[in-house]
Amino acid sequence: MAAAAAAQCNISPSTSRSHSIYRPSPTHLRLSTVRCCVSLQTSSLTSTTTSPDPPPHFTSLSAFAPATVANLGPGFDFLGCAVDSLGDTVTAAIDPASPPGSLSISSITSDLPSSSKLSRDPHVNCAGIAALAVMRALRVRSVAISLTLHKGLPLGSGLGSSAASAAAAAVAVNELFGGPLSLSELVHAGLESEKKVSGYHADNVGPAIMGGFVLIRSYEPLELLRLNFPEGKELVFVLVSPDFEAPTKKMRAALPADVSMKDHVKNSSQAAALVAAVLQGDVRLLGSAVSSDGIVEPTRAPLIPGMVGVKKAALEAGATGCTISGAGPTVVALTDCEEKGKYIGERMVEAFLSEGGLKAKATVSQLDRVGARVIDKNAL
Ligand code: HSE
Repeated sequence: MAAAAAAQCNISPSTSRSHSIYRPSPTHLRLSTVRCCVSLQTSSLTSTTTSPDPPPHFTSLSAFAPATVANLGPGFDFLGCAVDSLGDTVTAAIDPASPPGSLSISSITSDLPSSSKLSRDPHVNCAGIAALAVMRALRVRSVAISLTLHKGLPLGSGLGSSAASAAAAAVAVNELFGGPLSLSELVHAGLESEKKVSGYHADNVGPAIMGGFVLIRSYEPLELLRLNFPEGKELVFVLVSPDFEAPTKKMRAALPADVSMKDHVKNSSQAAALVAAVLQGDVRLLGSAVSSDGIVEPTRAPLIPGMVGVKKAALEAGATGCTISGAGPTVVALTDCEEKGKYIGERMVEAFLSEGGLKAKATVSQLDRVGARVIDKNAL
């Protein structure tokens, strides 16, 4: 199955198998380091043919998936990147006490109050939906699996909270069985979850699984391009999250139904500049392109109290660019050094309070080039 998927992806089976094993060389061609595609019609995730039940390789295994910044301004639904410091962890364990082939969520832990809203029903919970998709793809029939989810990301924050849970679960279950699914099959499993809980978009779950910057070139077939930001160049994300929830479904409902030709041309050119800036490691151009969304940001900004003033404060404090992170309410600013990032974050927090009446918290992050990874495992 992995070999077949790899053939579609134009990458070798060995590089397409386990993401925790696969590490692209930073010296590889920047644009096409990973170019993988899978047809949603032919994907193993929807196949019903019988094949051997895969044997588990571990009794339990934990995976971490990072926060993500989606859209990056003009890249609505097709550009996103992973950022370090924040994320979710899922442990998948063989459960001898439950019926073979079943999945349960035994516990959800978190220091964040919003996580008390999460359901332990695997058909509703993001981690559960993605884990079930992976179990279906692998045709797991002989063992039951139980998940524990540790939420590090607040819900509805614009930091890819649902995608991080889905990505960590997909990778944990896949790796429990030795990692037979390809990266794009894992993203596809995560997309099943995104579709159910927030909307059909891979700009969070793609980078949460693959790391770095990811361009979703196509959804049918799913085709993902990783864009390598050059090693050795500093890129700092200032993530300022106000005390305010903006559910992605609600923020998507606010989007314009039509786009004018003028706005299409403007946003397309900015998105193309953004891709060039990533590949060149040009933080100034990257920030300027991120700041230039003329379609989505103007319709969502009024729904986030203080957003316009926070962006102004970030740019005045020296950020190269600023926009809404994902569907918001987190606002992301870019700069090229951590110290500047801290200063910009303080100004943005002040502006959220003075302009929007909201308390906010700033986190200064770097690019997470790795994506979802195994952090612990127990052999059989
Ligand atoms: N592209 C999605 C949106 C990302 O903006 O609705 C949500 O995090």
